[in-house]
Amino acid sequence: MLALYLNRFTLNVMEPITLFQNKRIVLGVTGSIACYKSVDLASKLTQAGAQVDVIMTEAAQKFVTPLAFRSVTGRPVYTDMWQLETHVAHVNLGETADLLIIAPATAHTIAKLAHGLADNLLTVTALAARSPLLIAPAMDGGMYEHPATQNNVHLLQERGVIFAGPAKGRMASGLTGLGRMLEPMELLAHARLALAQNGPLAGRHVVVTAGPTREPIDPVRFISNRSTGKQGLAVAQAALDAGARVTLICGPVFEPIPLGVTLIQVETTQEMGEAVLEAVKDADALFMVAAVADFRPGARSDKKIKKTEMDEEWGLAIGLEVTLDILSAVKAQREKTGYPLVTLGFAAETHNAFEYGRQKLWRKGLNFIAVNDVMQPGAGFASDTNQVVLLSSAGVVEEIPMQSKTVIAERLVHHVARALGRVNEADSG
Ligand code: CTP
Repeated sequence: MLALYLNRFTLNVMEPITLFQNKRIVLGVTGSIACYKSVDLASKLTQAGAQVDVIMTEAAQKFVTPLAFRSVTGRPVYTDMWQLETHVAHVNLGETADLLIIAPATAHTIAKLAHGLADNLLTVTALAARSPLLIAPAMDGGMYEHPATQNNVHLLQERGVIFAGPAKGRMASGLTGLGRMLEPMELLAHARLALAQNGPLAGRHVVVTAGPTREPIDPVRFISNRSTGKQGLAVAQAALDAGARVTLICGPVFEPIPLGVTLIQVETTQEMGEAVLEAVKDADALFMVAAVADFRPGARSDKKIKKTEMDEEWGLAIGLEVTLDILSAVKAQREKTGYPLVTLGFAAETHNAFEYGRQKLWRKGLNFIAVNDVMQPGAGFASDTNQVVLLSSAGVVEEIPMQSKTVIAERLVHHVARALGRVNEADSG
């Protein structure tokens, strides 16, 4: 199953996000009842680490006060009284912003932006801004679907403006339809994608595998392992944050999928292998983080195996056979095609971690291997933290001490991005 995942997103827990540190976000708020959700959005952007400057239109101030935004951002809020305070506020705000978000954006403001009208601080700032513009529409009573609004949306999209939502659901009028502003957490994830656009992996295609694979015994039972997918999903998010186009090939996981990946859901090692070999045909990098099942039942029963089939003396024997070694298959394909340019694997070990890791690096033809000792407290499956030693054929690249899987993922992506830079230099040199 292939899908561009824009409806499940990560960030359940509010924590600082590296990508948001020192970023300047201008949040424009226009007159809709969804303004109350924008206070939460401003709070979440601030907690993520951004400096948030809010501009409110006159109509927005009828729903929420500037004080509400000021309280969560810790910064002054701009209104149309701006002329009295500083006459070049719009140029300043527009030019220094890394991202301009308008949430909620009414049909009226969208129309003004489409036609370059600039009659309040927000719309003049939008004209002066050189940053990406993210719009979260909110409107009631079928206004979004009106041809006038649709034309305006298309006009703005052609100019590169990003639209997030609206969602379908119950609107303030009691009607149900398309017009609800997205929830703050979803908007935060859209802002994250927009901020990542010019990262070090912009223009690169990165394939990431995550989670376990499952090998069926019969229609109701399977062999699998303890992987939850946390580390692989963190790598996918870190690659997105670096601006990459990410294909995520994922076994069964119960964790949120990062917004913006192209998701391929698989179950067995064979399915994962086929998906990987196809996806890496044009990939710059492969992160093979999945905990792939190494064995599968030699014969799969197509009916549920009954207890009565057990032999009293011998029990029930399930004969196992070895599954495809995906990285070895990638190695063979890469020798012919040259892709992916850079590969990184994981070695989850319970003993002799370093030595086994070195052997796997060589055997699987990898550029990097992240070795982790899953017996260490706080490392490995299901944990939010990990500790890895990153090896290349030249030796230890970095010993990454115990910390969140998010930070580990960022370090791994950093090293792969650097290696891709070196591949490019070698090509042009
Ligand atoms: N891997 C793979 N195909 C498999 C098994 C593993 O591509 N059938 C990948 C994993 O995703 C990981 C790397 O190979 O990136 C090492 O996986 P690991 O389970 O540590 O090693 P194995 O090759 O399975 O060897 P062993 O089980 O003997 O440790």
